[in-house]
Amino acid sequence: MTEDEQKQAAAEKAVTYIREGMVVGLGTGSCAAKMVDLVGAKVKAGLSITGIPTSEATAAQARDLGIPIVGLEAVDKIDLTIDGTDEVDPQGRLIKGGGGAHLREKIVASLSDRMIVVAEAKKKVPVLGAFKLPVEVIRFAAPALKSRLAALGSTPVLRQKPDGTPFVSDEGNYIFDCDFGKIEDPERLALSLSTLPGVVEHGLFIGFADLIIIGTDNGVEIIEV
Ligand code: 5RP
Repeated sequence: MTEDEQKQAAAEKAVTYIREGMVVGLGTGSCAAKMVDLVGAKVKAGLSITGIPTSEATAAQARDLGIPIVGLEAVDKIDLTIDGTDEVDPQGRLIKGGGGAHLREKIVASLSDRMIVVAEAKKKVPVLGAFKLPVEVIRFAAPALKSRLAALGSTPVLRQKPDGTPFVSDEGNYIFDCDFGKIEDPERLALSLSTLPGVVEHGLFIGFADLIIIGTDNGVEIIEV
């Protein structure tokens, strides 16, 4: 299977967990986009759900597909969130934020009864850290935080758009992509990052994923966390 087919297979399995009337968190990224397409087809076929998009891009896609979407003010809780990932380790810990949406993604995941993660096979890793960890920061703090992130043992690079200007998240912040090498103690790093004033959110998702669905050459692998 190609990577694209693996993503499609994972997305197809994930949407089988959606039930009538659910409030569903809609993730961001190429694998999540396949899931959103499938949700759109289900809605067209008569399924009634309410979507909570995790980014402006996903909101636009959902609107185009006719999926009803609302903000957090309109719901008491989220039944299920389905989202992609950049890496997942054997404990179900994730690195997310390759698409720059990890702040809203983490908020939505934190409010969800259940989080299903969908990905292609290469995202499964023995140890997190080959993918540079996204750290979203307040713009005012960015110059100072570059050295503080370096002091934690990373090589932080300010994310840029193709035209060379800084990438700005949906919430108006900058993102540093931080090479920490192998992250042997993700819990400890997560705590260190969270306590730095000016850091809005980092891409380590620990204790969020309940089910991981990986598309592989031999079909889908389902891992309960
Ligand atoms: C966006 C994310 C994405 O879920 C992650 O980057 C994976 O994306 P893709 O499925 O395109 O590889 O965290 O912030």
